[in-house]
Amino acid sequence: MGRGALSGMFLIDAPLTARREVARGMFVISMHAPEIATAVRAGQFVNLGWSGGPLLRRPFSVYRVEGEHIEIVLKAVGAGTAELLTMQRGERLSCVGPLGHGYDFASRARSAVLISGGLGVAPMPLAARDARAAGLRVVWVHGARRAEELCHEADGDEVIWATDDGSLGTRGTAVSVAPDAEVVLACGPNRMLGAVAERWPDAQVAVETYMGCGTGVCLGCAVPLRRGGYDRACKEGPVYRAADVDWTALPSHLSYAVTV
Ligand SMILES: Cc1cc2nc3c(=O)[nH]c(=O)nc-3n(C[C@H](O)[C@H](O)[C@H](O)COP(=O)(O)OP(=O)(O)OC[C@H]3O[C@@H](n4cnc5c(N)ncnc54)[C@H](O)[C@@H]3O)c2cc1C
Ligand code: FES
Repeated sequence: MGRGALSGMFLIDAPLTARREVARGMFVISMHAPEIATAVRAGQFVNLGWSGGPLLRRPFSVYRVEGEHIEIVLKAVGAGTAELLTMQRGERLSCVGPLGHGYDFASRARSAVLISGGLGVAPMPLAARDARAAGLRVVWVHGARRAEELCHEADGDEVIWATDDGSLGTRGTAVSVAPDAEVVLACGPNRMLGAVAERWPDAQVAVETYMGCGTGVCLGCAVPLRRGGYDRACKEGPVYRAADVDWTALPSHLSYAVTV
């Protein structure tokens, strides 16, 4: 198995080891990537390539860690994700990570609320793990359009489900039903994160952008900032203080499907 490390980042030829469905059309896949499993923190991501796959790698948040395995959660939204979901156990992925700047749990707070919309569930199991390790009580609010689109794996001292149509949990959006807390972490479509920024300017949010290299070189992942200028989501992000991002300029069409 080919492996390499560069300043805390690893390149691993990782075999796919398992797959399970966690909501309609939403799957978790596991791969054997021991160095990344040890090093990864909540909100960080891996950049995946594979033989016969798209020219550019595809970025995915690390969803969970199980021993030497890492998991990602995804839906087929285009050619690359569709191909990933046809791969069989034992097939290999070229996995670069952990990448990016994740969530920060260094405050003296005692409670955290994790807010996820649709596929924005992706960084939350690790966020719950790291928040608990920092001594925080964790409330997880997970929202989707309807019951079958809710990821049924959630992990917190309290879990609140929200659906737009009221088919499971509270009718409403994850943002509208979330309680206040000292630490607020969120991930979901950019429009949802814009709503988070209005309610909790200091929330930490994981943003979506297109990505190329994933390592700070190509500038393909520009995030417009309120103070002017741009950051690179793959280096300075993908986690930002909510009020620091210019939500009017960040594309809101990207694919994590949920309404706000
Ligand atoms: C830091 C980061 C973490 C991510 N984590 C996850 C995750 O955990 N699970 C997951 O399913 N997806 C995640 N994404 C989005 C994922 O990378 C894209 O859905 C994927 O690259 C699309 O590839 P594709 O070839 O299937 O689609 P394409 O054919 O390239 O595009 C199909 C659709 O996906 C959208 N899309 C393409 N690239 C991105 C992108 N980088 N971000 C968002 N939408 C995109 C396009 O607008 C289009 O609507 C993440 C993106 C980033 C930047
Ligand atoms: S993806 Fe290339 S600089 Fe961020």
